[in-house]
Amino acid sequence: TKMQNETDCIQKSWFCTFNKEQSGGRPRPHGRRKGRIMKEKLLEKFRSIFGREAEKVFFAPGRVNLIGEHTDYNGGHVFPCALTIGTYAAAAKNSGGMLRFFSMNFEQKGIITADITDLRNDKEHDWANYPKGVLKVMLDAGYAIPCGMDILYYGNIPNSSGLSSSASVEVLTGYALRELFGLDADFVELAKIGQKAENEFIGVNCGIMDQFAIAMGKKEHAIFLDTADLSYQYAPLVLGDAKLVIACSNKKRGLGDSKYNERRSECEAALAKLQTVLDIRSLGDLTEEEFEANRAVIKDAVKERRAKHAVYENQRTIRAVAALQANNIGEFGRLMTASHNSLRDDYEVTGIELDTLVEAALAQEGVIGSRMTGAGFGGCTVSIVRADRVEEFIRSVGEVYINRIGYKADFYVVDAGSGPCTL
Ligand code: GLA
Repeated sequence: TKMQNETDCIQKSWFCTFNKEQSGGRPRPHGRRKGRIMKEKLLEKFRSIFGREAEKVFFAPGRVNLIGEHTDYNGGHVFPCALTIGTYAAAAKNSGGMLRFFSMNFEQKGIITADITDLRNDKEHDWANYPKGVLKVMLDAGYAIPCGMDILYYGNIPNSSGLSSSASVEVLTGYALRELFGLDADFVELAKIGQKAENEFIGVNCGIMDQFAIAMGKKEHAIFLDTADLSYQYAPLVLGDAKLVIACSNKKRGLGDSKYNERRSECEAALAKLQTVLDIRSLGDLTEEEFEANRAVIKDAVKERRAKHAVYENQRTIRAVAALQANNIGEFGRLMTASHNSLRDDYEVTGIELDTLVEAALAQEGVIGSRMTGAGFGGCTVSIVRADRVEEFIRSVGEVYINRIGYKADFYVVDAGSGPCTL
């Protein structure tokens, strides 16, 4: 089966133990009890909204990127992990050609209806454009979805936090369609479908990282992904006596109106210049030395800094994973912090909110590393914090933040979780 192939890929990994549990159904994202309660909650809500029974309930996680930021559209490496928080959906096929969407996170929007033969991005449809985009991409690709569907969503990822709630909805929708209609799409394919929906239907020129991390998530592991060819290895997230703490700046951002696409074009322009003197496919092909020897050809100070970040960040990511493998968590943390500085100074995607969170984090005792995560321009930071200092970390960083920024930050202690599953 497809799943078996995925697990076979895992086996060749240099520091991952083959996990039998993964070859059958996906493990549950959390304890059975919590899963059962969530399932009941969604089934009941589905009944009250659509007046009928749902067929199945699904889950897909959110993700956090540990290092390797703004490298995925530059042919570089990323090192994200899926989370145990994410998005749930209850769904049932219907006999007509209509798609009916409802989100418990946006109850006031009510049921959003779309015709399966006429799927266009409609501003009025707001959040439902994400699942609509996935349907459109799958239909265009020839997947047999012969009738409509009623689907209800509930997510516990904070919106616009940089933890990929939208990619979670996309992968979840693809997975739900696969399960409901018996489609032959493996998890990597579901990631690609989600990315395509985001690129073509939503209009954000994102890379593959978020959708890949979500579709391919593995409990207690991060994913070392080479975006140049989508080869990947699972790395056990062994942090010793430390925890992953996410600090959410609560500064709202939408990728669509951010400078994300602009950064991407700046990198493409720098690459084109470098390609006049070097035989490379992407910035990810360059070492720091090669870049330094040739950077003058870019002839634009801003684009030079953007490209520098992409090149150095890719190399940092490779080193960070090696450090983790060697159990050198201190070095991993230092590289995380170096990543933040580069995103602040050369890539310029941090801002006062994220800088304040990282600066305050690094001033705390027991903090091994801290950086912004995701696209930037708001969203979250991720820090590695010694377990016995987590409480104090949250208190102190929270206090510095509210004093300087004027509103509060939210904190989450998170674990690496699995990819999509049926509850
Ligand atoms: C967003 C995009 C990803 C990636 C990150 C930055 O999360 O969706 O593809 O580019 O930003 O690393």
